[in-house]
Amino acid sequence: MLYEKVLRPGLWSVSANDAEIAHRLTIRSLAALEHVPGALELIRSTQKIGEQEPVTLCGITFPNRLGLAAGCDKHAEALLALFALGFGHIEVGTILPRPQEGNPRPRLFRLPEDHSVINRMGFNSHGADTVAKRLARYRRLGPMPGPVGLSLGKMKTTDNAVASVDFIDVLRTLVLYGDYLVGNVSSPNTPELRELQGKAYLTALVRSIVEADRECRARLKLAPRPLFVKIAPDNMSRFALEQTLEAIVEGGGSGVIVCNTTTERPESLVHPLKNEAGGLSGPRLFSTMLALVRKVRELHPEMPIIAVGGISSRLDAVKALRAGADLVQIYTGLVFQGPKLIRDILQTPL
Ligand SMILES: Cc1cc2nc3c(=O)[nH]c(=O)nc-3n(C[C@H](O)[C@H](O)[C@H](O)COP(=O)(O)O)c2cc1C
Repeated sequence: MLYEKVLRPGLWSVSANDAEIAHRLTIRSLAALEHVPGALELIRSTQKIGEQEPVTLCGITFPNRLGLAAGCDKHAEALLALFALGFGHIEVGTILPRPQEGNPRPRLFRLPEDHSVINRMGFNSHGADTVAKRLARYRRLGPMPGPVGLSLGKMKTTDNAVASVDFIDVLRTLVLYGDYLVGNVSSPNTPELRELQGKAYLTALVRSIVEADRECRARLKLAPRPLFVKIAPDNMSRFALEQTLEAIVEGGGSGVIVCNTTTERPESLVHPLKNEAGGLSGPRLFSTMLALVRKVRELHPEMPIIAVGGISSRLDAVKALRAGADLVQIYTGLVFQGPKLIRDILQTPL
């Protein structure tokens, strides 16, 4: 009750003036709760997530089909508390090889009337070494309640031509951790990053990441981690999508995450901050995401798909799964609805 009545309304408050401070406070409070005896059990019992049906994808067992999208716990600070809320998997990151400040503040904006967020964080990262230390600490505490994905990115100053060096640096530093990898080539806030989605670049990038992972994991007698590529919703003509998916397959990637934030600004947005630069997330993304998931499924009937983008209800999650997704993720819905959204989505097996 303490959590529901006091902590939750304060932490998830959408009226906070500075969205980034509200977010940091949320993550720090969740992280602090991990050190309070009995707190995680309290969260779990408050959430009352019912029995779920586990699903196996790329050889990994997920306790349920709902995950937390990348960008919420970028630096692996509150994984156990977030799992306690009911998530079946958590995507950490995007993680960079070295610490990076990201763009100047303000860079995160909530648009409450639109239930949307605009962010131009620009890959703020504590760096792979720090994330590795945090994951090592979690490992000492015992097995994770569910799979953890590692979203890999490149430094702002790294040229696209050598971007693979950064992605590989991160996966090597985190060789011991993470159940799947994600190549993030779709953030709109790192100049020219999205050009990596082009077929020639992407095939080479995927191949080099997959080979590097196989190599460094084999040395430790560990199985390679499946690689997903996270794609953008913008400028994805049928041809562009076909090319991107072919690159994933030819490069030896395992699946696709559909999709990152959009640079489009739908007419229907009403909040005065709607023209802030950055990527828009939330319900305005949902129909684009759904159409993309359908197209991927049509083009590649067997390809593992994780759907993310504007999922704001159980019905949305069900629609994404019916469109062909294997797993779904949320982020912005959680900002406006809090952990109740997780409860709603998982009220019965998804
Ligand atoms: C503040 C913020 C930061 C994000 N950071 C990342 C990131 O670092 N890496 C990434 O792949 N996606 C990032 N995303 C995108 C989300 O993972 C997700 O793809 C997008 O927000 C759409 O889902 P949603 O509408 O449920 O939020 C971020 C989103 C937000 C709102």
